[in-house]
Amino acid sequence: MTQMTASDVPSMGRRQFMNLLTFGTVTGVALGALYPVANYFTPLRAGGGGGGSSAKDELGNAVTASGWLSNHAVGDRSLVQGLKGDPTYLIVEGPEAITDYGINAICTHLGCVVPWNNGENKFKCPCHGSQYDSTGKVVRGPAPLSLALAHVSIEDDNVLVSQWTETDFRTGNQPWWG
Ligand code: FES
Repeated sequence: MTQMTASDVPSMGRRQFMNLLTFGTVTGVALGALYPVANYFTPLRAGGGGGGSSAKDELGNAVTASGWLSNHAVGDRSLVQGLKGDPTYLIVEGPEAITDYGINAICTHLGCVVPWNNGENKFKCPCHGSQYDSTGKVVRGPAPLSLALAHVSIEDDNVLVSQWTETDFRTGNQPWWG
């Protein structure tokens, strides 16, 4: 049986301590590398049931689906305050349905709010004449890009908006908005 001398103990302790330190550092780096990934998969902002933040009307009141549908006809595109307060069009798809995407009204040319023209079935920017189709896809410049999208969902009658990070279904491209 080997007998440890008193002088071995501190050196062993030091080695273990160094091992721990190294392990800790490596783990720390690995966790650091994983953090953005974990963060990416965590829902961004929880509001209501976790599906986004409430759409607000011009007075700042939360928009309800039943309230909205009771005074907006099918095909209507009217503005709410969406993500970060951006003016965002809700689309009434049917007598009981709001489309699951909203259209950010800020013109991609120089930032005017683009009105919906119901008669022509398009968004027409009054500032320099850019036009967007009924989904917000740019059809005439000088606007370089389509209007940004946001997800729209209904939870307990509350209309929620959240970030659109997937492919833009109108262009097949990654979203240009961050
Ligand atoms: Fe809309 Fe220039 S800001 S066309």
